[in-house]
Amino acid sequence: MTTLIRTSAPAKVNLVFEVGAIQADGYHPVNSLFLALNLREELTLAAGDTGSGISIYVHGDTLPDRHIQAVPTDDTNLVYKVAHALAAHHGLATPDLQLDIHKRIPVAGGMAGGSSDAAAMLVALNEFFFQENGISKLSTDELARLGASLGSDIPFCLYGGLAIGTNRGEQIQELPDLQFESNWLLCISSQGLSTPLVFHRFDELDLFHEFSDLSALQINSSEELANLMTNDLEPATFSLMPALTGLKSKLEELGALKAMVSGSGPTVAALFESRGRCEDVARLLNSEGIFALTSTGPSAGARLEA
Ligand code: C5P
Repeated sequence: MTTLIRTSAPAKVNLVFEVGAIQADGYHPVNSLFLALNLREELTLAAGDTGSGISIYVHGDTLPDRHIQAVPTDDTNLVYKVAHALAAHHGLATPDLQLDIHKRIPVAGGMAGGSSDAAAMLVALNEFFFQENGISKLSTDELARLGASLGSDIPFCLYGGLAIGTNRGEQIQELPDLQFESNWLLCISSQGLSTPLVFHRFDELDLFHEFSDLSALQINSSEELANLMTNDLEPATFSLMPALTGLKSKLEELGALKAMVSGSGPTVAALFESRGRCEDVARLLNSEGIFALTSTGPSAGARLEA
């Protein structure tokens, strides 16, 4: 019987993104409050032909074509890297695999699209090794430790929900889920932004400050959520893409409780009280040629699908 394993993993927004001064290893310490969104990548894994290596087919019907075309299908893709890491962890050669990725998260948009694929791959391959080789499955904590060195957002994509991320963003402290659904409008820029470039501009602007204590936060409504949203990288992203400043103001004028660059951007995430208003504004922006999606949070971490 051919093993066919389906998994999915969420996008993230950083509700709070505090960034410290660059360290000797080239990374910046961060203090982040992550929320997983119901904008989920879907990955299907099947055994490949002997000697074929890992082949990836990427498709999607909700994003402009460039997001599908921009996904690398060679060994620079994070899914390859995590597959090699998990196989090596078990002392195995990387198996021949066929992957199908249904892409919904924008590429280079500050929403952890690549990390979400990697998290979905870790869960899929964990199951594959269990079914094919009888190897006990690693726990989420163990998968997160494996993924952490390959991409700072991979651990959060494994846990999902609401969580604090520290160090590079890869050290996750899970928080109780929000008890309400939050409505998000995501404005996807026509160009991506490289994360290292945004951090580099952040260094030039010299903007870092003290971190706040996120562990005792009580968030009971979208309004409370809006009041705590901050992103230290936003001025750096705005300086690289000045047009986003106007987009943020426009979203707030159109009724968003708060609009903010997501992570390093350039996606601008706007929080709305009402789902209806959120969808109306998405329609309006799309009619003006600004590509916008809606989603909700929280969402579960990477998981097996039936
Ligand atoms: O770990 P990840 O692949 O997401 O990081 C991509 C790049 O973003 C790093 O090479 C680094 O330049 C920058 N980065 C950083 N500080 C972080 C996370 C990422 O400077 N906390």
